[in-house]
Amino acid sequence: MTEDQARADLARLAASIAAANDAYHRKDTPEISDAEYDRLKRRNLAIEDQFPDLKRDDSPTDQVGARPADGFTKVSHAVRMMSLGNAFDDEDVAGFDSSVRKYLGLGDTSLTYTAEPKIDGLSLSLRYEHGKLVQAATRGDGETGENVTANARTISDIPTRLNGAPDILEVRGEVYMSHADFADLNDRQEQAGAKPFANPRNAAAGSLRQLDPEITRARPLRFFAYAWGEISDPLAETQFGAVERLKGMGFSTNDLTIRCHGVADLLSHYRAIEEQRATLPYDIDGVVYKVDDLGFQARLGFRSTTPRWAIAHKFPAELAWTRLETIDIQVGRTGALSPVARLTPVTVGGVVVSNATLHNEDYIQGRDSKGETIRDGKDIRIGDWVQVYRAGDVIPKVADVDLSKRPEGTQPFKFPTTCPECGSEAIREDGDAIRRCSGGVICPAQAVEKLKHFVSRAAFDIEGLGAKQVEQFHGDGWIQEPADIFTLEDRFSNGLQQLKNREGWGDKSATNLFDAIREKRTIPLARLIFSLGIRHVGEVAARDLALHYRNWTALTTSVDLARPAALAHRAADREEEAERRAAAQDGRRARVSDVRSATIAACSVSEDATAAWADLVGVDGIGATLALSLSDALANTDERAAFDRLTAMLTIVPPDAPSNDSPVAGKTVVFTGTLEKMTRAEAKARAEALGAKVSGSVSAKTHLLVAGPGAGSKAKKAADLGIEVLNEDGWLALIGDA
Ligand code: IVH
Repeated sequence: MTEDQARADLARLAASIAAANDAYHRKDTPEISDAEYDRLKRRNLAIEDQFPDLKRDDSPTDQVGARPADGFTKVSHAVRMMSLGNAFDDEDVAGFDSSVRKYLGLGDTSLTYTAEPKIDGLSLSLRYEHGKLVQAATRGDGETGENVTANARTISDIPTRLNGAPDILEVRGEVYMSHADFADLNDRQEQAGAKPFANPRNAAAGSLRQLDPEITRARPLRFFAYAWGEISDPLAETQFGAVERLKGMGFSTNDLTIRCHGVADLLSHYRAIEEQRATLPYDIDGVVYKVDDLGFQARLGFRSTTPRWAIAHKFPAELAWTRLETIDIQVGRTGALSPVARLTPVTVGGVVVSNATLHNEDYIQGRDSKGETIRDGKDIRIGDWVQVYRAGDVIPKVADVDLSKRPEGTQPFKFPTTCPECGSEAIREDGDAIRRCSGGVICPAQAVEKLKHFVSRAAFDIEGLGAKQVEQFHGDGWIQEPADIFTLEDRFSNGLQQLKNREGWGDKSATNLFDAIREKRTIPLARLIFSLGIRHVGEVAARDLALHYRNWTALTTSVDLARPAALAHRAADREEEAERRAAAQDGRRARVSDVRSATIAACSVSEDATAAWADLVGVDGIGATLALSLSDALANTDERAAFDRLTAMLTIVPPDAPSNDSPVAGKTVVFTGTLEKMTRAEAKARAEALGAKVSGSVSAKTHLLVAGPGAGSKAKKAADLGIEVLNEDGWLALIGDA
């Protein structure tokens, strides 16, 4: 190749790649396949390698292909955007109703709810100030979403001005696409040679999240209003009334919303909506029930991510039959070996499914986690004709197998006993349905999965460093463990240079990445705890631990101190299990508590360790299984060293101090006896919302005992310890609820 040819080729490639980028990222209508795109980029790089002096200023090598150059700005929601708990059958609905009535202390009185379709779209929060639309944001992780104001303004169902609205009003609802508009859009996509959208929901999401609002304008999106966030004046006294007011202000609301009295009424509306589902012009995936009285809603409040006053009653999963081509074993971040079904692609409820979970080895063999027979004991084999289903957003599952279609010569599936990724022994502990790789840090699959978890949205959420990039960097040997992310820049004296020479990385993206990493050196304690990927420690538990211990050193010191008690607890679990088995064999009653206390006594654990363990398992929401797993992770020398290397590089921010204006902030409160004005659950939730810790037992650490009629030993113990005791009215007066 001559220099002139090279120059001409580089110019042509730069133009083609730029056009492909534009089609993919801005118009959402890819014009060439991924493979063809990669080929162009590789060819460009090869010519640049041969003629470095000819590299263009706008070289595609320096541009990021994987994501748009500019993202949306972030919006912090004034009131968290919640999701909904799910009910899958009539029993779940009855359970929801009875827990609501119990929480409110309503006895057998039937409660009024609203029931409305659950629209299968994406939620959007619209902020109006003095009647003017000032901001529209997607849900994101519930706390922070994306600013899509310019796009929302192009949706005709969304008024930009309101009459008679409170000064501040955040309207929440669902953006969706109708079936007819979806079909038209896909026709247009196909005519343009672009990939059609899999379903109206994906089309709506893809259309709303366009950087160019003109593209959104060309996509026929709609909006139903069904809830609200921050609000300066209440809209009404009931859910139904509030939605009526939104309708009066010009919003589209769903006309299948009705008021129902009690469970039977809810279920009959559910059946009515289910019957109409196929004829509705938009997708729905269930029916949402909400407590109608807004006073009750306020009392019920929220769990960490869902309201107590609402639930989504989902429609049954959609089913399809297909061939099981093979079974792959994936290794997760905690070493779990998960069997994945690779299927002949089949459409299930509008989405093409080619992978599905098979849960674990027992499931494949026809047993559930308790060892009971499922599917009449039929096992699942490679080559089988299997039934696949999707329930909501969750990963598709293999449910059943048709033995009449089993090909000849199939063999039962042999679950591996070594890790397919690192060859270490894969061990299944007593009572655990999961077989796990014992390779720990030496297993590359575990390391990569841990890293992916570490950078995920609820964890460190580093812009520009997602699962794909982490895999790339791990493969290149640049990042082995989380701490390496923070030394990435330093380890290359010419880090930028190295990074930008990689395909897909340019000057700007490399600088942005290092900036984003630097920004996350300061991290809230709860996020840090969650990001470590410790088994059983999810987002909620991480938040609870952060609130309780308040800093990393306090947490680790206390959990270290509790270690002997944790081990004694595990030994006691094992002895207890052995006793149960022996007793079952001898046909006698198991002496569980004797065996437990004898084992714990034999371990002669110090008082300090016992107290530290009691403190840990005393944290609301932290059970013994989680506490043991946390203790194991911190006691594992390799893992602990990796945590230490990481935390040495971070500034860890303690959780917000409980609101100081509350007289019970930071205090430990115990409720005992009968409460007459509220239920125990409500009292606990209210106290916690005011920054108090609620404990079940009285100890020297208790600040306050709230005792109703019938209080017994706890009241006596509190008196002995000189702890302040209040009756229910005294408590309500103290917290200003009287
Ligand atoms: S109410 C605090 N009502 O379902 C409660 N949500 O699975 C806020 N959704 O995030 C939600 N139709 O995006 C509500 N009629 C409806 C809904 C609805 C669809 C979506 C919403 C929510 C998700 C939870």
